[in-house]
Amino acid sequence: MNFKKNQELEIEITDLSVDGMGIGKVNGFAFFVFGAAPGDIIKMQIVKLKKNYGYGIIKDIIKSSPLRTVPDCKHFGKCGGCNLRHISYSAQLDFKQNTVKNNLTRIGGLPKSLSVNKTIGMEHPYHYRNKGQYPVGTKNGKTVAGFYAPRSHNIIPIEECMLASETDAPILKIVTDFMDSHNIPAYNEYDQTGILRHILIKTAFKTKDIMVCLVINSDDFPHIDDLTPLLQRSGVTTVVLNINKKNTNVILGNTNKTVFGSGYITDYIKDIKFEISPLSFFQVNPIQTEKLYDTILSLADLKGNETVFDLYCGIGTISLFLAQKTKAVYGIEIVPQAIKDANNNAKNNNLTNTHFYTGAAETICPTLCDSAITPDVIVVDPPRKGCDPTLLTTILHAAPAKLIYTSCNPSTLSRDLKQLFPTYTPTQIQPVDMFPHTTHIETVVLLKRK
Ligand SMILES: C[S@@+](CC[C@H](N)C(=O)[O-])C[C@H]1O[C@@H](n2cnc3c(N)ncnc32)[C@H](O)[C@@H]1O
Repeated sequence: MNFKKNQELEIEITDLSVDGMGIGKVNGFAFFVFGAAPGDIIKMQIVKLKKNYGYGIIKDIIKSSPLRTVPDCKHFGKCGGCNLRHISYSAQLDFKQNTVKNNLTRIGGLPKSLSVNKTIGMEHPYHYRNKGQYPVGTKNGKTVAGFYAPRSHNIIPIEECMLASETDAPILKIVTDFMDSHNIPAYNEYDQTGILRHILIKTAFKTKDIMVCLVINSDDFPHIDDLTPLLQRSGVTTVVLNINKKNTNVILGNTNKTVFGSGYITDYIKDIKFEISPLSFFQVNPIQTEKLYDTILSLADLKGNETVFDLYCGIGTISLFLAQKTKAVYGIEIVPQAIKDANNNAKNNNLTNTHFYTGAAETICPTLCDSAITPDVIVVDPPRKGCDPTLLTTILHAAPAKLIYTSCNPSTLSRDLKQLFPTYTPTQIQPVDMFPHTTHIETVVLLKRK
């Protein structure tokens, strides 16, 4: 069948893509449709055709899927933040569980009878983000801050966001109104003029500390001494200027100037205290982080005398969590600042049994093993691209009794596990929903040596 752009077709949606688009086929030719849910029968208009697939938009819903719900955010479809808000939360959790299973069977080669636990979801999947990064620009002569529209740098001004902390929107309004009343120009990325590029807000859910970090294309922010009292009145505990004069899409520069407060916020995961500065990595959903780390701790089932490796350890959050229950934890992380934070966090929590190393896990881990440090448990939490293959070889060589693989990408998780399956058996596969209303999936797998 020859399809044409703008042609209208009836199509049944049978699946969801990794980025949340409904997928349906007409005579074996696949179409991707934003906002469509599996089970929908829709009238679709073709908007783009490629050789083997096409994109469509919904013109009419002929039969509505039982998974469908009314999106509860007025920005859905315009801003690039959420892509599953048209699907009920329980169906989102099922989708994540099925995606993990499909990847592990298709890529990892595990049997179809494989059992994957139900996704651990949130009781109240709203306003869960403790960090918001909002680009700033000018629209119709007014300063705006919000989110980029999908695949563009067009800023959609945000008066409310169902994912962000509820205190973010009022703070954005204070800053943008202040800029308009003081004629402070927003940064213009096309000619690199103007001052304010991004507003970064970090919120500590337990202590209620709030940091506002203004990312500026300059050495100073005009009238900052008049702005900080306004921010302070709305609960802000520290204000930092981050200087970024480069013509780049990287949000933060390397230099910070604290103009009010301590320059960092303090928060807790369970009873472990963390100091979080503008550049430090911290999990963005603190409520689910506790559930994720509890899962790791319960799967590790530590008795108190184990040596644990925490590879890709970031600022040592998992390491510190596990260190409370065992003899020694060795953390490895490639970013030097994160290791400084990890050591600092260990000191602040009076934990003396952690040892942190800066460098690539695939380089440092073999050296540790060669120096006769034998891990009983290895935890890995790599970035989306998964583990380096040489690290997997080192792990097989070190042969810990237990391996806990935490992953934010089911496809690289499955690829890596395939290499480990001859020696390790997956005994628990637990998805945890760290990012409700988006297609991101976090999974923890416990592997036991055969
Ligand atoms: C998904 S984060 C995990 C952070 C930490 N486990 C946590 O829960 O906060 C992955 C971390 O791996 C680090 N990383 C990336 N490549 C690395 C490598 N080759 N060796 C060690 N760490 C690496 C990143 O800097 C990042 O901190």
